[in-house]
Amino acid sequence: MADLKMNVSCFFFIQVLLLLFLSSFAPTNAQGLKVGFYDKTCSKAEAIVKKSVSDAMKNDPTIGAPLLRMFFHDCFVRGCEGSVLLELNNKKDEKNAAPNLSLRGFEVIDNVKAAVEKECPGVVSCSDVLALVARDAVVALDGPSWGVETGRRDGRVTNINEARSNLPSPLNNITSLISQFDSKGLDKKDLAVLSGGHTVGQGHCPLILNRLYNFTGKGDSDPDLDTEYAATLRKRCKPTDTTTALEMDPGSFKTFDESYFKLVSQRRGFFQSDAALLNNQETKSYVLKQTKSYGSSFSKDFGVSMVKMGRIGVLTGKAGEVRKKCRMVN
Ligand code: HEM
Ligand SMILES: *[C@@H]1O[C@H](CO)[C@@H](O)[C@H](O)[C@H]1NC(C)=O
Ligand SMILES: *[C@@H]1O[C@H](CO)[C@@H](O)[C@H](O)[C@H]1NC(C)=O
Ligand SMILES: *[C@@H]1O[C@H](CO)[C@@H](O)[C@H](O)[C@H]1NC(C)=O
Repeated sequence: MADLKMNVSCFFFIQVLLLLFLSSFAPTNAQGLKVGFYDKTCSKAEAIVKKSVSDAMKNDPTIGAPLLRMFFHDCFVRGCEGSVLLELNNKKDEKNAAPNLSLRGFEVIDNVKAAVEKECPGVVSCSDVLALVARDAVVALDGPSWGVETGRRDGRVTNINEARSNLPSPLNNITSLISQFDSKGLDKKDLAVLSGGHTVGQGHCPLILNRLYNFTGKGDSDPDLDTEYAATLRKRCKPTDTTTALEMDPGSFKTFDESYFKLVSQRRGFFQSDAALLNNQETKSYVLKQTKSYGSSFSKDFGVSMVKMGRIGVLTGKAGEVRKKCRMVN
């Protein structure tokens, strides 16, 4: 008996030693990113970001969703290197591309960056600020948390045409979505998981009018859209509406949960790109699995896919720079 106890505690001791040993080599991935990159150079960075995001969201609870979306837009255009934040005098920047429609929260990023700069000037990149803010926004929306890899550096280039060609359109079919994600190193599961970001936030009428009115030229609505839901949406979006914003996940748009997948499975996805997830076996099966309370892995999967998205085209080491102000190169 005593022997057994001895063995058991010995076993734990060795495990603890092993863990200490492994954690002294905090894993750095192939691109040179790692969780806790600023632990030594700016130990308060993550806490400062979290506090700034939570303050911003107390002030405006709807700002969380666009802050999450901003990281997606950054990563899909030239990689996660902060180019979405840059402004050019001639307006040929990513912010001025059509898919930017209603991208907002740039002043929150400015405030977060200013707070971090005050603590440790010139250390924390704007692209890492975006990655941390996205996670903290999800947490503040009662969603899951994950370890954010940091160590990105900021790019010096922004280009309106790259935003136009790299950001998926809400009108895209599943074939296009899969290939757009594939071109960024993201697979079908990532596509299904990350589309779940639409569990929060709003979309604008003009982007769904085609689904509601005269979809095939016979005065009909999109056959992939539940007819009852189409009728509800038509009441909110008149054919000439250019401004109204609707909750994409009605009743739960401020809560980051798996309800998006229930909606999509009921053919109540907001955009054609949401509905499209039912048109591929793998994405469809992911959607359906999330609708079962015991089968849902969304809250765990989301962090995994966000980390993967956060590795797209990053600049590390001596590449790029750490911008002082996120809207302009140094
Ligand atoms: C799969 C391809 C995707 C397409 C086609 C797409 C498209 C869109 C569009 C058109 C809007 C609404 C814009 C507006 O009317 O204001 C939107 C909103 C949003 N998207 Fe996506 N998106 C995609 C993927 C993602 C991903 C990967 C994320 C994050 C993980 C994301 C997060 C969001 C959020 C949070 C909003 C709400 C923003 C707000 O409330 O202002 N989307 N998306
Ligand atoms: C988005 O682009 C439009 C022009 O397409 C521009 O008027 C608007 O200011 C841009 N939005 C932001 C947030 O920069
Ligand atoms: C999907 O969209 C692409 C690009 O618009 C088009 O070429 C293709 O034929 C479409 N595929 C299907 C299956 O509808
Ligand atoms: C619907 O589309 C068809 C074909 O494009 C067009 O002839 C018709 O006038 C449209 N109807 C309405 C109500 O806009």
